[in-house]
Amino acid sequence: MVLGTASVVGAATLVLGGVPAYAAAPHSTPASHQHDDSLRDLGAEYGLRIGTAVSPAGLQDPEYREIIAEEFSSVTAENEMKWETLEPVRGEYNWGPADELVEFAKENHQLVRGHVLLWQNQLPAWLTEGVADGTIGTEELREILRQHVYNVVSHFKGDIWHWDVVNEAFVDDWETGDFESGIHPERFWVQHLGPEILADVFRWAHDADPKAVLFYNDYAIEHMGQKSDALYAWVQEQLAAGVPIEGIGFQTHLSTEYGFPGGFQENMQRFADLGLDIALTEVDVRTFVDSPETQEPLTPALQQQQEDYWRQTIEACLAVRECVSYTVWGVSDEQSWVPGWFTGMGSALLWDENLERKPQYYVVQDVLETADAKHRTGRGAGRN
Ligand code: G3I
Repeated sequence: MVLGTASVVGAATLVLGGVPAYAAAPHSTPASHQHDDSLRDLGAEYGLRIGTAVSPAGLQDPEYREIIAEEFSSVTAENEMKWETLEPVRGEYNWGPADELVEFAKENHQLVRGHVLLWQNQLPAWLTEGVADGTIGTEELREILRQHVYNVVSHFKGDIWHWDVVNEAFVDDWETGDFESGIHPERFWVQHLGPEILADVFRWAHDADPKAVLFYNDYAIEHMGQKSDALYAWVQEQLAAGVPIEGIGFQTHLSTEYGFPGGFQENMQRFADLGLDIALTEVDVRTFVDSPETQEPLTPALQQQQEDYWRQTIEACLAVRECVSYTVWGVSDEQSWVPGWFTGMGSALLWDENLERKPQYYVVQDVLETADAKHRTGRGAGRN
């Protein structure tokens, strides 16, 4: 995410024939799985995958591992499939942490969302510095990117359900005084290789793994607004040109500082009506808290507002038949990215810093337990 300051971000914010064995297999319960009202089991009744972002620290902690295994049916590497982690030294790939997560997912009958192929953040220094000092020119940069996409997608071929192919490429609503809405001209890849690079990366990813479902992923596109309108227009053009975009990821980093995104369900539906899958890819709801350690919301009203936002996100997803996955951006507040990025804010996730379930957890669980039965039909495990 392009984040200058905390305030900026918040301004918003089946085909059965081709289904790999792990996707089609009925969910078999891990040995430690003790309750049948876990989020993953409840989601399965709708054909909806419930996911979480996972960090290596989380995977090393037994209590954490158990929660991830029991409660979630898909996982996303919070940072370990990003370029700076995968190739810290040019030509030397560090697959270990990401492979470990993929193995964990297989053991626990989970699908993996791949995150991320083209993004301006968390690029290796050798790449950004080489471009900055002119030792990597335009043609070489394009070839480096093409090779990276092939290397990464091929390495994980068959193990990735969804790929976030392009991440955060559009001008934000609050920037439209400085830029025209549309593809952001000053983000690294477009700045150096032009806007057509976005379509090229989708094509390269599709060539490397034709069965992975390819997503455009972004924040602050949840509401109907200039950014989501510009994305909608661009996606229509790309689909007409045969670019293999197959899904839209709505990150859904929400804050009680701002209203709930207006028209979220309708917005998802208009993209779905283009024939695309929908995923909520990074859900969290932050608020003002007492301290980064305890992360107690400052008032009961803020807590209530958070619960209300969580309810609306899962309800909106269930109401859109094409919404096939709902991923929360981490398990516990202790490991959330929020306190480190937004001073004075936190409590953004479903488990507290002691790994106790929060009221927000029970809100999501309650919606999944009680939602209209009509949402239980017609949703696949997504195109695959
Ligand atoms: O690994 C280093 C460690 O060696 C070092 O000591 C430490 C000191 O700061 O930093 C560690 O790296 C941090 C990294 O997370 C791994 O923990 C970076 O500083 C920190 O900036 C990085 O933050 C990540 C952020 O993306 C970076 O852009 C967050 O964990 C991650 O949750 C966040 O995820 C993004 C999604 O990919 C895209 N959408 C927005 C979302 C939230 O920003």
